[in-house]
Amino acid sequence: MVSRLINLWLLLVSIFVMTNGFSENSDGRHKEVSGSNEFDLLIFTQHWPQTVCYQWKEDTESHDCSLPRDEEWTIHGIWPTQYHKLAPQFCNHSLHFNASALAPLEDQLNVKWLDVEKGTARYSFWKHEWQKHGTCAVVLDSINTEVKYFQKGLDLLDKYDMKHVLGKKNIVPGDNHSVQDILNAIETILGKRCQVECITNSKTKQSYLFEIRICFSKTFELIHCDGIHGFPTNCDLKKNVIYPSNVPVDYRVIQI
Ligand SMILES: *[C@@H]1O[C@H](CO)[C@@H](O)[C@H](O)[C@H]1NC(C)=O
Ligand SMILES: *[C@@H]1O[C@H](CO)[C@@H](O)[C@H](O)[C@H]1NC(C)=O
Ligand SMILES: *[C@@H]1O[C@H](CO)[C@@H](O)[C@H](O)[C@H]1NC(C)=O
Repeated sequence: MVSRLINLWLLLVSIFVMTNGFSENSDGRHKEVSGSNEFDLLIFTQHWPQTVCYQWKEDTESHDCSLPRDEEWTIHGIWPTQYHKLAPQFCNHSLHFNASALAPLEDQLNVKWLDVEKGTARYSFWKHEWQKHGTCAVVLDSINTEVKYFQKGLDLLDKYDMKHVLGKKNIVPGDNHSVQDILNAIETILGKRCQVECITNSKTKQSYLFEIRICFSKTFELIHCDGIHGFPTNCDLKKNVIYPSNVPVDYRVIQI
């Protein structure tokens, strides 16, 4: 009986030590992540609206989407980043998002940087990108204001639009290809390695082309993405990836 009590006591002590240990660990990790606002390079992310919509619908079936009138890649964001990390983020809480500052760009942003997720608050997508990434990017003179940050996104899309890049290698919406073919096509056309991201349906295991990320130095020269978090892809390497010309399920879709 006494030895059982001692065992129980030892068990409780070890649980206490373990729990304490874990919380110290996670505190430590938290500090590490929110530490430095410095970054090594910038990722420019384009996403494929049909797949963004698919993900939004998969999340909740009643969700509606806004899709661009033309079948085009749109902007997700410009993300300053450290190699091997999803950091820095949310660098300066005093740089508030100012929607009226974007008035001169708003018509273009509504087409090229549109919020596919219909029903979310107006400006919330741009506000999120600004707070999470733009406030880290402002240390670069070329993107040190909201207008410059969003204008840069528009400029990069014009120059590196993936419909055009993939089309040069005959990869067009409606097709399916191995992710290696897609990675190779972009490297051949742009001369630099990029990152390709997929959404995978957990039931069918089918992968859909979701995002293409290309990388830039701080002076906006195109560079290889080797070493960024998740490089080169999260897509299924053994199955073909679908580049859908329609939202992959029969949902209601609102054209803008
Ligand atoms: C945040 O932005 C404000 C306003 O530009 C600036 O005064 C401040 O130094 C910035 N803080 C950091 C940590 O960069
Ligand atoms: C927001 O932007 C507008 C237009 O540029 C400007 O007039 C206004 O002062 C800005 N507001 C703040 C709080 O900075
Ligand atoms: C992939 O493309 C081929 C023809 O290019 C087609 O026969 C096949 O059905 C496609 N697969 C999927 C899953 O769409």
